[in-house]
Amino acid sequence: MNTYEKTPGGVGVFFPSWNDLKQSESEARNPFLSPPPHCQLSTVDCRLPFPLRYTIGSIVGENRMPTREDAWKLLCEYTASESLRKHMLAVEACVRAYARKAGADEETWGLAALLHDFDYERWPNQEHSPDQGHPSEGAKILREQGYSEEVVRAIITHADYCGVPRQTALEHTLFACDELAGFLTACAYVRPSKSILDLEVDSVKRRMKDKLFAKGVSREDVRKGAEELGVPLEEHIGFCIVALREHADALGLRGTL
Ligand SMILES: [Fe+2]
Repeated sequence: MNTYEKTPGGVGVFFPSWNDLKQSESEARNPFLSPPPHCQLSTVDCRLPFPLRYTIGSIVGENRMPTREDAWKLLCEYTASESLRKHMLAVEACVRAYARKAGADEETWGLAALLHDFDYERWPNQEHSPDQGHPSEGAKILREQGYSEEVVRAIITHADYCGVPRQTALEHTLFACDELAGFLTACAYVRPSKSILDLEVDSVKRRMKDKLFAKGVSREDVRKGAEELGVPLEEHIGFCIVALREHADALGLRGTL
């Protein structure tokens, strides 16, 4: 059973089933969106202690930008939920696609998207504290580990309740893709094919009008996201569908097709 959990204020998290997370061999060979071998979803131990490399790095003053592999390890360390991991991967796919379209730094944009909810499971912050819990606690960790302020700020601004206005293209893009990625996943799951491959924009728009469908998803935030991007809603939906299709296997969205 799929559920959609939503905290008011624009931080929704989609939870698909465990079976959707099993990876095929071809996915494992896909260098993008597939977890590194040591972080396979079925084997990763999220109780692992804080990665030693970060401790060593801070001691010797290492000052390098963490890589996607670093980010994935951090994500796995703090997030046991397979569905929440997949949500972050789905948002990453959409944001990376927008980065390529904009000619922006895809790696930086990808890191922000991949990590935007990494602290949610540990500090869900149902109270919507602007400076405690998700995403503020995560922001502290990211700063300690050398993530750029561009990445950290984008993550903070995706939660409206933090009260930090979105300003950059990355910040607007992350917000715009967060809710929509979850909604598109829900739309795919209820299709006979259970696939993103045959999901069309018109179908998504019809679902948006159905107040009972994935009712935790704020339609207002989806529309606001497109507005902030300056892109018609239909175009935004279509763009993200294509982005998710490119990684349908890794995201468990191929269904029966
Ligand atoms: Fe999210």
